[in-house]
Amino acid sequence: MFRSPKSGALTVAFLCFASPALVAGPLGIGETATPEMIAGWDIDIRPDGRGLPPGEGSVADGEGLYEAKCASCHGLFGEGAGRWPILAGGEGTLDTAHPEKTVGSYWPYASTLWDYIHRAMPYPAPQSLTDDEVYAITAYVLYLNDIVEDDFVLNQETFQEVKMPNEPNFYIDDRPDVVNTRCMSQCADASTFEIVTTINGVTPTAHFKEDSGVAANHYGNEAATAEATKVALSDAAVAGKSIYAKACNVCHGAGVAGAPVTGDAAAWSERIAQGMATLNKHAIEGYVGKNGVMPAKGGNMALADEEVANAVAFMVESSQ
Ligand code: HEC
Ligand code: HEC
Repeated sequence: MFRSPKSGALTVAFLCFASPALVAGPLGIGETATPEMIAGWDIDIRPDGRGLPPGEGSVADGEGLYEAKCASCHGLFGEGAGRWPILAGGEGTLDTAHPEKTVGSYWPYASTLWDYIHRAMPYPAPQSLTDDEVYAITAYVLYLNDIVEDDFVLNQETFQEVKMPNEPNFYIDDRPDVVNTRCMSQCADASTFEIVTTINGVTPTAHFKEDSGVAANHYGNEAATAEATKVALSDAAVAGKSIYAKACNVCHGAGVAGAPVTGDAAAWSERIAQGMATLNKHAIEGYVGKNGVMPAKGGNMALADEEVANAVAFMVESSQ
């Protein structure tokens, strides 16, 4: 059996099956997991280092351990023996025809390395390493990737200093197709949906009936694009676009709860006539109108007043 907390949990689970007398719970099956059982499985390490156990290991200690336990497959320098995975090198290859994804060239967080080695390596004997050994070998693999110096010692504190070169290339995908309005009513016949292929992916469009009054706001829809580009947006409106997508489109995209639909000039002309000051005040502080309730900041109190005003500018300029 492995030398790990997990083996304890496995043994307990096994005993439960073997002796029905232990079985409890409302349905007569299973039993409530104890904190000890949960701890046995709760071994993940987060990007900020949460979950790392006490202990430490140096690059120097890691060298011998790596050579004894890892090099036979991953190569003395992480170059990979035969067809076993490569752990080092590959910098600058990601945007080429033959990207080489390694710990150094690709992985965004060092926590994954610690976790992976602790959880799954060495391949023939996973979870056989002590925490100090995992620290040392992790430090050594980082060293093989030129991410730390040869005198580096890895522990909970020094983990915070490790910066993976490719981390900036991992970011939240805020492209518009992820905020496509879902059709929950007035939906078009599914057989008429169009699938529009763009360089950014495949996006189904035309979910709503043509006469539904719902603005054609779907990504890749040529009519909508033509509408949207009819007026050049001000800087404030450009800044407000992503805020709108995040916090306002949920109601104003499809007219949920009486919200005036963005892009529907008729629904907006009288509102716009009130002037921006009133519109901003209503959007920031919320108000009750004859169509329904506009919650303050769309219910997203984390937004700054200026962000809300920018979103209003985007809505107004898109609805003239
Ligand atoms: C018997 C061969 C073998 C040994 C020994 C071995 N590994 Fe692995 N290692 C593998 C294989 C196979 C994979 C890929 C596993 C998979 O994709 O499911 C892997 C994957 C990895 C990865 C992830 C690579 C990636 O880019 O996805 C790391 C990191 C790693 N090993 C580190 C280690 C370390 C550190 C040791 C020594 C403690 C070790 N390995 C020992 C075979 C081995
Ligand atoms: C939960 C649904 C909902 C969300 C989310 C929402 N709104 Fe509204 N909004 C409404 C409704 C309903 C109205 C119409 C109220 C009325 O006039 O009866 C409205 C009206 C407005 C008006 C017109 C004000 C006027 O005086 O005519 C503006 C401007 C506005 N919203 C901005 C925003 C902005 C900016 C956001 C995002 C930060 C947002 N809304 C998010 C429901 C919402």
